[in-house]
Amino acid sequence: MANVSLREVYKYYENNETPAVADFNLEIKDKEFVVFVGPSGCGKSTTLRMVAGLEEISYGQILIDEKVVNDVEPKDRDIAMVFQNYALYPHMTVYDNMAFGLKMMKVSDVKRDKDGVPVKDANGREIPIMRHYTKAEIKEKVEEAARILSITEYLQRKPKAMSGGQRQRVAIGRAIVRNPKVFLMDEPLSNLDAKLRNQMRAEILMLRKRINTTFIYVTHDQTEAMTLGDRIVIMRDGFIQQVGTPGQVFDHPENLFVAGFIGTPQMNFFNAKLVKVDGSYCVNLYGKLFPVKEGVNAYLEEMKFEDSDIVLGVRPEHITLLKADSTEVSAAVLEAKVTVTEMMGSELYVHAVVGDGKEMVLRTPTAGLSKADRVSIADGGTIRFTLEPELMHLFDKAKETNLIPINVDME
Ligand SMILES: Nc1ncnc2c1ncn2[C@@H]1O[C@H](COP(=O)(O)OP(=O)(O)OP(=O)(O)O)[C@@H](O)[C@H]1O
Ligand SMILES: [Mg+2]
Repeated sequence: MANVSLREVYKYYENNETPAVADFNLEIKDKEFVVFVGPSGCGKSTTLRMVAGLEEISYGQILIDEKVVNDVEPKDRDIAMVFQNYALYPHMTVYDNMAFGLKMMKVSDVKRDKDGVPVKDANGREIPIMRHYTKAEIKEKVEEAARILSITEYLQRKPKAMSGGQRQRVAIGRAIVRNPKVFLMDEPLSNLDAKLRNQMRAEILMLRKRINTTFIYVTHDQTEAMTLGDRIVIMRDGFIQQVGTPGQVFDHPENLFVAGFIGTPQMNFFNAKLVKVDGSYCVNLYGKLFPVKEGVNAYLEEMKFEDSDIVLGVRPEHITLLKADSTEVSAAVLEAKVTVTEMMGSELYVHAVVGDGKEMVLRTPTAGLSKADRVSIADGGTIRFTLEPELMHLFDKAKETNLIPINVDME
């Protein structure tokens, strides 16, 4: 129903020379679900509030459906916003809470007689008017939203007699009834406990299927971002760091910040060297050579890349642990000393020290470990691991940016 464009948007708060949001450029497509994610204070809420019209834009333009809305009042932007602190009116029933906004709203119509037939003027034209919703119209909208959110049975209850998740659904319902062009949500789930948050996350996915509209969703939770977003916008200190699908930001982080932000436990970063040996490029990590994948090799070849210091990024789940009884003697096996192992249920997080005392973490499934494996991954044990060419990320050490272009890396 609506696309949203942000063009070179800046926000300076009063008495502050550093912008809260800087050079923000984004084209959000109709019906797209976009998530803004980033650490506290990076400018997520500020950006959302500028789209909503609750915060003035210092520079740049925001467009909704190709129309510049910089000076359009929030109530005239056809958007609905759900906040973290969903203030419901405590003395009103759920029904009235949801109906409240609709009672205030006006819709365009034409003048009608008592049977609902349009009245015409002397020239035979219908007469446009603005009017409030009728009781029947409000009832229909509230009941439809309640159905979508499975809260029909609570319509006559007061908010205090409901759980946090149910109340949050009412807050979302209050936004749905207005049938907005754009749905804005600012950390709507962060007040809920972990279990309820997972459940509501699934419900938002379903909601999205039922009310197919444009969503902008703010969270600092990368799991929420990854599971909900068609595209994710990762922000830091007011600047966009990367925009991409969950797959793109996970498989090809544009810089060290994104690499460290997306994924748990965090990606391991090693100081390493990218070197050419016998005509092919390899990562030299603690004296062992790990070849890069074919496409990357061809790219580096084409760029005539010279040996240099890099940061090698490897996710904990992408470090290949060798079996304790493995007799593999490859040039590319490293040893590490286990410091502590965290039992996560189906997985173990093994913390270890490698090379010159560098701490690293790897994830390995609990199932299928032999007795000897269990000894080696226990505190004080020694593990051996290798790295796969497909699962290494190469970053420029000085610039902290990915050395490989996304199209080459994700080929
Ligand atoms: N009304 C305000 N006046 C002055 N500075 C503000 C105001 N609101 C926010 N800021 C500042 O702007 C920056 C961005 O704030 P914002 O609320 O957009 O961050 P956020 O990404 O939503 O963070 P969080 O995850 O903590 O909600 C922060 O440095 C914040 O201190
Ligand atoms: Mg915020």
